[in-house]
Amino acid sequence: MKLVSRSSRVQEIFSRIAPYYDFLNHLLSLGIDLRWRRYAAELIGVGPEATVLDVATGTGDFALKVARHTAPGVKIIGIDISEQMLARARRKVRRAGLTRRISLQDAPAEELPFDENFFEAVVIGFGIRNLSEAAAGLKEIYRVLKPGGRAVILEFSLPQYRALRFIYRFYLIVIVPLIGGIIARSGDYRYLSQSILKMPGWEEFEATMEEVGLQYARHHNLSLGIAVVYLGEKPLSVA
Ligand SMILES: C[S@@+](CC[C@H](N)C(=O)[O-])C[C@H]1O[C@@H](n2cnc3c(N)ncnc32)[C@H](O)[C@@H]1O
Repeated sequence: MKLVSRSSRVQEIFSRIAPYYDFLNHLLSLGIDLRWRRYAAELIGVGPEATVLDVATGTGDFALKVARHTAPGVKIIGIDISEQMLARARRKVRRAGLTRRISLQDAPAEELPFDENFFEAVVIGFGIRNLSEAAAGLKEIYRVLKPGGRAVILEFSLPQYRALRFIYRFYLIVIVPLIGGIIARSGDYRYLSQSILKMPGWEEFEATMEEVGLQYARHHNLSLGIAVVYLGEKPLSVA
């Protein structure tokens, strides 16, 4: 019950901010988010005929990056619970001429409509913190990954350096809701900031990855720890 009400609230938020999402993303990160997705996409490491799932695909930026940084035979499926975000993703995929490689579906991360052992890699960009429960999403990612497949999770984080952390917290608490409020004309960016502040630390998150079965959980810090890419693999032989 709790899971459903939380995701419908999140769904409403993203549906409301969908028209402003890309613009505000690039503005608030000064365009660095594009580089973060590219870096994460390069870590997928799949073969030329792989199928990749992009969970919480939103307006499709991560799926598009994966398409550009993998072989032309690689297919990508993006899922999201917001039709408004997906509509924008569909438009961008069409404009990029990638409709044969990227398909988009309305589906929840906590109940993926795919068989187990289906994907060579699963990615999720800035989406794990929005799920009703990160562990529920990670379990599903693990289930649909093929043995040996890789999970690549890109997310915001809090920098380790105290001074930078202080400035970044101020930015999240004051500046992001202010700019988001002016442009999107809603308080939704306050929620987005709060969800970043509530993200668990690296050790805790990697422990949850390991708990669901994703082995060799590790991370790469991006931009002094403002963002982070987590990696983990489904074991080749599952007991
Ligand atoms: C911050 S956006 C990230 C979009 C995109 N991955 C990117 O890199 O910009 C988070 C997305 O997660 C989606 N989302 C939130 N909860 C979800 C859930 N339970 N299942 C699937 N998608 C979800 C939202 O609709 C939104 O599009």
